[in-house]
Amino acid sequence: MSQAAPAAGAETPDWIVLKFGGTSVSRRERWDTIGGLMKRRAGEEGARVLVVVSAVTGVTNALQAVADGHADREGTRTRLEELAELHRRFCSDELGLDPEAVLGQRLAELLALADDPRRAAGDLAWQAEVLAQGELLSSTLGAAYLGSRGFAVGWLDSRDWLQAQPLPNQNDWSKRLSASCAFEGDAALRARFAAAGPALRIAQGFIARAPDGGTAILGRGGSDTSAAYFGALLGARRVEIWTDVPGMFSANPRQVPDARLLARLDYAEAQEIATTGAKVLHPRCIHPCREARVPLWIRDTGRPDMPGTIIDASAATVPGVKAISSRRGIVLVSMETIGMWQQVGFLSDVFQRFKAHGLSVDLIGSSESNVTVSLDPSDNLVSTNVLDALCADLSEVCRVKVIAPCAAITLVGRGMRSLLHKLSDVWAEFGRERVHLISQSSNDLNLTFVVDEDLAEDMLPRLHALLARSGAMPVHEPGVFGPSWRRLGLPAQPRPPSWWRRRRREVLEAAARGTPLYLYHLPTVRERARELMALPAVDRRFYALKANPHPAVLRTLEAEGFGFECVSAGELAHLFAVLPGLAPDRVLFTPSFAPRGEYEAALARGVHVTVDSAYPLRHWPHLFRGRDLVLRVDPGFGQGHHEKVRTGGRAAKFGLAADELGEFLQAARAAGARVVGLHAHIGSGIHDPGHWRAVHARLAGLADGIGTVAFIDVGGGLGVAYDPEADPFDLEAYGRVLAEARAAWPQYALWIEPGRYLVAEAGVLLLSVTQVVAKQGLRRVGADAGMNALLRPALYDAWHEVVNLGRMDEAEGPPADVVGPICETGDVLARGRRLPAGTAEGDVLLVDHAGAYGAVMANRYNLRELPREEVLDD
Ligand code: LLP
Repeated sequence: MSQAAPAAGAETPDWIVLKFGGTSVSRRERWDTIGGLMKRRAGEEGARVLVVVSAVTGVTNALQAVADGHADREGTRTRLEELAELHRRFCSDELGLDPEAVLGQRLAELLALADDPRRAAGDLAWQAEVLAQGELLSSTLGAAYLGSRGFAVGWLDSRDWLQAQPLPNQNDWSKRLSASCAFEGDAALRARFAAAGPALRIAQGFIARAPDGGTAILGRGGSDTSAAYFGALLGARRVEIWTDVPGMFSANPRQVPDARLLARLDYAEAQEIATTGAKVLHPRCIHPCREARVPLWIRDTGRPDMPGTIIDASAATVPGVKAISSRRGIVLVSMETIGMWQQVGFLSDVFQRFKAHGLSVDLIGSSESNVTVSLDPSDNLVSTNVLDALCADLSEVCRVKVIAPCAAITLVGRGMRSLLHKLSDVWAEFGRERVHLISQSSNDLNLTFVVDEDLAEDMLPRLHALLARSGAMPVHEPGVFGPSWRRLGLPAQPRPPSWWRRRRREVLEAAARGTPLYLYHLPTVRERARELMALPAVDRRFYALKANPHPAVLRTLEAEGFGFECVSAGELAHLFAVLPGLAPDRVLFTPSFAPRGEYEAALARGVHVTVDSAYPLRHWPHLFRGRDLVLRVDPGFGQGHHEKVRTGGRAAKFGLAADELGEFLQAARAAGARVVGLHAHIGSGIHDPGHWRAVHARLAGLADGIGTVAFIDVGGGLGVAYDPEADPFDLEAYGRVLAEARAAWPQYALWIEPGRYLVAEAGVLLLSVTQVVAKQGLRRVGADAGMNALLRPALYDAWHEVVNLGRMDEAEGPPADVVGPICETGDVLARGRRLPAGTAEGDVLLVDHAGAYGAVMANRYNLRELPREEVLDD
């Protein structure tokens, strides 16, 4: 949690400002929470506390109706009476207080507004008085209730401290009902404020003093803004905005349940996120805090112990996308010059016309002969009439086209330009749709894509997942990202502890025999194997032994009934050396660009052989005469946890393109071979079961046209949750999809060939700490192996959990990178991890989920020894 330094000098008392919205002041127990929080801030932090409150839920809307219906005297009186009654009842029934004693005076003032001479004309000053009543009442109720609970709470009138300040472009309405305030505080003001009441104080949000001495209203998001103004005026230690969600999120959690809590933001990022869509915080309230360097916290009243979001200047600037948001109802205006290219004054001519129609332009894209701009409905009254008039005007100087309705999808985060290389998936996703405009903000904080409106909703969850997976959104950055909305929403559903947590002592003993060491837990392999054996739709299962060819793993899976998928003559030789009696029918050979001799050897062994182009048939036809073949097809798309493991689509070297099937079948016939199976494996680390549905449908469609096909192999690729925050692979959904596919084409047997799923969780890599070094503020924990033992983080930016196994119960230290001993800057196993502060030379580090593509991808770079391997078999 932030240890923000007191902002005020020693002579001025130090304030914390807490703001509570309507739902937080509408129930007694919420007021108990408010009291408890005030007490804690005062007691534990020695601060003075100012609470700023909104009106009770629904009251501001009712007051707005009073203001709007001013012409009707009786209606006004009735509505005000109803509001008075609502507050009386809340006072007596909910808070257990005497309404007359607490509210008598205030309710008299409320009711008097019906007889106010300014009412009939709907005078703006009168409307402001009306709207102010909700906060005046709720703050009065709160002060009385907390007083009755033994808190010495002072009530203050915000209008004595917040002065509305007219701005140059404001009309009378906005001067009165959407006012801005001065917020520069000085020592004299702070001293005056401190002397004006006790250390615990309650004030109203939303209201300020108008220059004529009457009331002014701060407009939308007014209570947040009031708290921010008070925070800035008082040079507060911080401002806490208490609301009904746990903070700001990396996307709207209602659209993207995997959206992550944003634990820490700087002011500029928070401003950008609030402006481009997030509703938690009104964008206006950030500016005063930013100017006065007052930290801003967002907290959840229903879950007061959650840390929420902290916005401050000292937020470590981690480049990366922090949030993705969308705004609907965007209108694009495309303007083509009629005259010369780069005509002088063209921009000035067109923007003059926007100004004349009172329209503010948001995004701009330009070329030599075209300028396209967007209009955001939240800043503009974009009615058809206004647009028609604008277009008529613009057509004097250019050819105009209006494109609507559109949605603007914005990626927000610091250092957007330095991230472009990580956004390839995002570009690809947009590449499938029509993008009307792309705009990168000049402050390097956002990148916006404008698409047709109906596309946005579906794209957001996909884009969020792609951003997280590519590392562009650094969700593993501790201190920046918190848990996902989905996790927060669920009653804590702890996953069963990993095997190595239960067997810590033995794991440490194994490490004591020497590191680096891969340790495999065979019961976990068995458990995963049995899950896959239990899927009724699957006819045959082949373990892709490239994931982990350890003999004990192979024997375990053979005993569970698995066959094996091999990619090289080396794997075949190894497999038959470990399992000499294995029937060749249980083996599938799926090579890629292998030399002819390997096909020869595999065919001689009698295993199923896969080809993925016509080359082997055309150039070595005699090898395949009279043979049954499996054909690997590229369905035209790839998927997977990283671009380097996507094996479908034109960019991938694997598989026959479907439109080349005719030629292939001709070559097969000419060679005298028969296609008995179709195969596809288009990527690894896939969590969306729809993927296998699409692959199966594609293959089955082709199989129908071939006629000799008996089975369809949909490959492996099942994902694994490396991150304890992520949801585990949805095996049930996978099984369901396969069952549907099998039922739709009952004539084809269904084969699968998983690798990672069977072994990833069963393996850990154990390392010893070599040195702990801090260089220019960056802490590094060195290990006796790095990318030489586990290549995945360096090659794919893969994330693995790392723990200090001997100090699991010790307190976390500052973030550190876990690095290996290889002379490459990329030799980093994990970034920014909070290992225990006491982590020291000789400690044992455990890298989790290292059982797949771990030891087998280790290398002897720098002539370091390969890691040892051991198994636990019970
Ligand atoms: N079948 C074929 C033809 C394959 O090429 C692969 C993996 C599999 C099955 C098994 O896929 P799995 O179920 O394990 O996802 N080194 C990368 C993964 C490369 C996967 C290569 N092919 C990593 O560490 O993520």
